[in-house]
Order: sequence, then structure tokens, then C-alpha cells
Amino acid sequence: LDNGLALTPPMGWLSWERFRCNVDCVNDPDNCISEKLIKQMADLMISEGYKDAGYEYVCSDDCWQSMSRAANGSLVADPQRFPSGIKGLADYVHSKGLKLGIYEDFGHLTCEGYPGSEFYLQLDAQTFASWEVDLLKFDGCNSQREDFDRGYPAMSFYLNQTGRPMVFTCEWPDYQTTHGIMPNYTGIRDACNYWRNWKDVQDSWDSIIDIIDHMGDDVGNFSSFAGPGGWNNPDQLIVGDFGLSQEQERVQFGMWAMMASPLMMSVDLRNIRPESKALLQNKNIIAINQDPRGIMGVRTQQMGSVELWNRPLTPVGNMATALINKDTHGKPAIVPVTGSDLGLVSGSLYTIYDAFTMSVVYNNASSNVNYKIIVNPTGITMFNIQLQK
Ligand code: GLA
Repeated sequence: LDNGLALTPPMGWLSWERFRCNVDCVNDPDNCISEKLIKQMADLMISEGYKDAGYEYVCSDDCWQSMSRAANGSLVADPQRFPSGIKGLADYVHSKGLKLGIYEDFGHLTCEGYPGSEFYLQLDAQTFASWEVDLLKFDGCNSQREDFDRGYPAMSFYLNQTGRPMVFTCEWPDYQTTHGIMPNYTGIRDACNYWRNWKDVQDSWDSIIDIIDHMGDDVGNFSSFAGPGGWNNPDQLIVGDFGLSQEQERVQFGMWAMMASPLMMSVDLRNIRPESKALLQNKNIIAINQDPRGIMGVRTQQMGSVELWNRPLTPVGNMATALINKDTHGKPAIVPVTGSDLGLVSGSLYTIYDAFTMSVVYNNASSNVNYKIIVNPTGITMFNIQLQK
């Protein structure tokens, strides 16, 4: 969507994967979806260095609402859990130099059964603008998938009509793809700043691999639609949660950079392992994610359990190359490749850096040299490759 926003993949925090639809503030006051939780996350994004690393949007997913609309039809935040209202929360978040994201659904109800935007698209867009919201995640539960191709662009139009810049993120292709409908990526790119391609991420390695496989298959060549203003979205980061090993967390973070994905953390920032925090703030990987040309990396080779991905970077000639090993057999894979497998072009010399540390791995690398790359089980070896001048 060419609305001047999301020129690089948006970065922030989103409540869903970690906190779900916990509305029980009586028994679980510290973890329920509430302004208290969102404010705490905003505070920690500042005090723990996430904002300095580039994370900017703090977003509530489903379950922020009251069960019914106001008499005049407008949406209402749950008064117990959001006593300041969404406008009050937005003011707080803005006072910290951050931006606020909110969630709604194109159907008559959200996935968790709160009022949806069906028949209220224009009013809801106006309400979000009046609350000074900065991002809208628009879900597709409880609606007809055949209506998406007109409904999402309509919401995009109404958001634009408010005059308030709001990032618009769509769950448009994922519902279609999972039901065998080929999404219209041209229309999606025109209407949305980023769009969910596949199933909901869960807190597990299987989920991460299922998503990476789907993104690698690239059916419909959706990778070619990524670029400033519009991004494919493999869903939230689960780095720092319960389900991944340290190696596997590196796979998710590295691959989300390869795929030019939005980086939406869904983790309890009050309680995160130091190594997970350091990974989420790894400036070398974030720089790859945020590369200004915004070309999405693609899978270039599959060799048994190992696959190779390549992403062109700025300036032209530079690139990131990742090898991931999906094997769980315990022994690191030793992968024989040539420089050209890694993406090197013949006739040029390159310096190959470890993408996580930026320490030199190979100097004067060239396309016809043979390399043996070690990739840990359920791990990643990722290079930042720079053309020598
Ligand atoms: C769907 C979406 C998730 C989340 C939930 C909320 O499952 O795909 O990302 O927004 O709804 O109910």
C-alpha cells in the first residue's frame, strides 16, 4: 500500500501469540489483555533498549473490546481492562515516542467473538483515527472469504479517507491460501502494508518450519510483491517464549530477516532470557531485515534436510545467504557448496561475514571456490556477503 508507511518492515510488539485472549484480570491481573499490560510493554520497550533497536509499534490483538458497540454504533474498549480507553492508551504510548496498534476483524465478529467491522467499516476507520491509532491489524474470521477482494480494499479506502496515517495489515491471503483459493497478490499489495501468508504461528519448532516451508514454496510468486510499503508476513516472533531452543530462535530471527518480514515480538518483556533479548536486539540481523531496497529473500536450493536462501541487499552486489538445517539428528551437517551456490557472481571477489556477529569468515571469496559450511541441527548459518570494491 503506497501510503508512505512501512517503507521497511514494521517492528514492534503484538500481544497475540504469548498472551492470547486472556481477559481474566481477576485471577490473572498481570497477564490479562489490558492497558496495564500494554503500558508495561511500552515502558520496557524503552527501558530495555528495544526502541533503540528499532521496535516502534506496541499492539493489542483481539479481546481489547467490550462485547457490544455503543448506542451510536461505535466500538468501545472494555471499561474494566482499558479504563483510559484506547485514546488514553494512545496518548500514553505516544508520550513514550512509540506507536499504537489495534486489532479488528472484517467479519461480523472477531475470531474470539467480539464485535466485528461488518457493516461498520467506515465508522470503525473513523473511530480508530479519532483515537489516534497508528496501525490496524484486520482479521478475517466470521466472514465470507470471497468478499475479501472487495472488503479489504474498502477498509483501506476508509482508513485513507480519515487522513490519519495508519499502517494497514491484512489477514487476507492466509484464509484464502489455507482454503485452496489463490490470493490476488496485486490487489493485496495495493490495499495493505503487510499481509499474513499462512497459518497462525504457535510456540513450537514445527510451527516455525511449517511457515518457512510455506514461504519457501512461494506459490503464486508472492515474494516478488514485497518491497517498500508492502511485505509478506510469516507472523509474530516467538523468540523468548517457551517453545524454541537457542539455535531455533536464531533460525526464526535470521529467517524473518531473510524474508523481509515485519518483526512483531510476542513475548513477555518483563521476563525474557538475556540471550533471547540480545538476539531480538541483534543490530546486524535487524539491518538485513530493514535493508532499504526491501527485496525479499527466497529459497534457492534444497539439499536433503538443508536448504539455502538468498536475499539481495544494498548496495547492489551485496547479499545475505542463509543455510538452515531442519534435521533433528543431533550431528551438525557439513554442507559442500561452491561460491556460486552461496550467490557469488563469477569475476567478483567478496568478503563473507557471519551475519550475526559480522566477523569475517572468508576473505577474497569467489564463485568457483568450494566451501564446507557447518550447520547445526535445527540451526542456521547465515552470512552477510559484501562485494569487494
Ligand atoms: C486469528 C489470527 C491471529 C489472532 C487471532 C485473534 O487466529 O490469525 O493472528 O489475531 O485470530 O483472535
